[in-house]
Amino acid sequence: MKELRRIGVAINDDLLGKFDKLIAGRGYTNRSEAFRDLIRNEMVQEAWKSADSEVFGTVTLVYDHHTRLIMDKLTELQHQYHSAVLSSLHVHLDHDNCLEVILVRGKAPLVQKLSNALIAAKGVKHGRLTVTASGHDLP
Ligand code: NI
Repeated sequence: MKELRRIGVAINDDLLGKFDKLIAGRGYTNRSEAFRDLIRNEMVQEAWKSADSEVFGTVTLVYDHHTRLIMDKLTELQHQYHSAVLSSLHVHLDHDNCLEVILVRGKAPLVQKLSNALIAAKGVKHGRLTVTASGHDLP
């Protein structure tokens, strides 16, 4: 681990109080770790805005597998963007509904395009892209 440097942050009581409450609710035991995570999160968001960044993420989909052609459509999209798909997990939630989590990787615009297409597929009830990064650019 790299050496840590101490910095001073000027912040008003109201904002600090709210921040402490927020991070306590999320299970942080100290402010420093919470600040570091906030900064890293901003760096990941920034990487996703850059066309050249190699990014990682997960696309979570919930759909009714009885919807006409939905399975074909989701498979077709993953083959179309096969270089961006690392793996997928399918869980049969109940008689009708499926949960699918697709692990994606690649240049941000390509991964975003794939994710948008999957989420917009007819019959997907809920879809969400969770963005992250490889970690090697995150000190
Ligand atoms: Ni299923």
